[in-house]
Amino acid sequence: MTDTQAHGLDPRRLPRHVAIIMDGNGRWAKRRSLHRISGHIKGVEAVRAVVTASREIGIQYLTLYAFSKENWKRPEEEVKALMDLLYDYLIKELDEMLHNDIRLNAIGELTNLPARVYEKLLDTMERTRHCHGMTLTLALSYGGRAEILHAVQSIISDLENKRISHDQINLDAFPSHLWTRELPDPDLLIRTSGEYRISNFLLWQMAYTEIYVTETLWPDFGKKELIEAILDYQSRERRFGLTSEQLI
Ligand code: IPE
Ligand code: IPE
Ligand code: MG
Repeated sequence: MTDTQAHGLDPRRLPRHVAIIMDGNGRWAKRRSLHRISGHIKGVEAVRAVVTASREIGIQYLTLYAFSKENWKRPEEEVKALMDLLYDYLIKELDEMLHNDIRLNAIGELTNLPARVYEKLLDTMERTRHCHGMTLTLALSYGGRAEILHAVQSIISDLENKRISHDQINLDAFPSHLWTRELPDPDLLIRTSGEYRISNFLLWQMAYTEIYVTETLWPDFGKKELIEAILDYQSRERRFGLTSEQLI
């Protein structure tokens, strides 16, 4: 019996791509009268647990919303702490990624990251490029609207340089201009901390994604909670606009 079946999951109906809005670090800390940054430190532990669990379960693509474009407006001290945590994470997790055959990918306005973080990110992506067990994508300085706008600018540039013609601007070709061009659309979106909103995440890509919201705060989220989310996903009927009868 595989790890997946042992948890009651149907291995034939696993979400290929799971995306997570990791929310609630600040509230986790506040409930313990700790500084918000302690919540982020604990949040990194949850990232480790969920990355490992996803690989064990057999998820092919895991995308984590780690830092939004809007998050730059948080207090300077918090932004700095988050960037330091990201830097440490990249250094500490490289061996684990290689060991587990995990390829690191990133989406967002990456050049806005501090130079040493940006360089470490590119270096880790390069060193894990040959890994094929799972693609872990970190959304950093990411905004869904910015991504769509960037895609439009890329199309205009291709048109002006005659790399494409007007009839090549269509629903099939558009996603190849997005930062997620190498990823399938997410099948399952998990948001922790009980917030029912998308917060500018993967706006184009989530047209038909199944949404799962849990009250659990991100630092408390682990393998058990991930399995619960996937079990819930497996109980859904994805109709993509069709009727139930058409799906049989
Ligand atoms: C998510 O936790 C982490 C980031 C956005 C970087 P929050 O920091 O948003 O936690 P809450 O929402 O304040 O509890
Ligand atoms: C979304 O969480 C961004 C990340 C998890 C990185 P936020 O805490 O920033 O979102 P809002 O402000 O509650 O919408
Ligand atoms: Mg939040």
